[in-house]
Amino acid sequence: MSVHKMLKPVVFIFCLLPLMMIMWQAFTNGLGANPAETILDAMGNWAVYFLLITLTVTPLRRLTGWGGIVRLRRMFGLFVFFYASLHLLSYIWFDQYFDWHEIVNDIIKRPFISLGFMTFVLLIPLMLTSNKAMIIRLKANWKRLHQLVYPIAIMATVHFFLMTRADFQQPVIIALILSVLLMYRLVVYFQKKAARL
Ligand code: HEM
Repeated sequence: MSVHKMLKPVVFIFCLLPLMMIMWQAFTNGLGANPAETILDAMGNWAVYFLLITLTVTPLRRLTGWGGIVRLRRMFGLFVFFYASLHLLSYIWFDQYFDWHEIVNDIIKRPFISLGFMTFVLLIPLMLTSNKAMIIRLKANWKRLHQLVYPIAIMATVHFFLMTRADFQQPVIIALILSVLLMYRLVVYFQKKAARL
């Protein structure tokens, strides 16, 4: 297999490492005093990290000229959904013990849960349309739909801020990285607009 062809499977394994690490810690009693919270937080964190990784692909391609990296973008995007689903499952299972009444109550009453829920709902159409057939079928609308990734990333970061009570270091770093990635898009947008004038 050529290096080019090996890239995708190798990156795929790397993307699964956070889950494997959590599973390893679970089997070796390494999840600390509150294993349920450790799993919930880790899955939420990795969903956000993969959002940032996905948003880094385009700038990296433009800055390095390495077109091949775009082939990884869909995989990174699907891992956002994967880890967000595990985060949601951990919440439903370990936090609420499948008490659907309590879950609906929580979604209605706690703003950070409402926001997390809305963020997750917005991820669903992106996941469902992330295949080649849908790209061809939706044409220009596909690009428009996938611009949802920007509000999704902002909402996920705000969800992180709202749930944080004491140490804001991590959400602040996430917000700073996201700002840089969004600013990059704005600059490119205005550059293109100016070129058209
Ligand atoms: C229905 C959807 C969601 C629910 C019910 C939910 C629930 C929660 C809960 C209960 C926590 C707090 C855990 C704690 O107190 O330690 C949390 C934290 C978090 N969530 Fe969500 N969430 C949802 C969606 C999302 C999505 C879509 C993302 C990202 C794409 C996300 C990212 C995070 C992050 C980064 C944290 C902070 C973890 C940390 O403390 O390090 N969540 N979420």
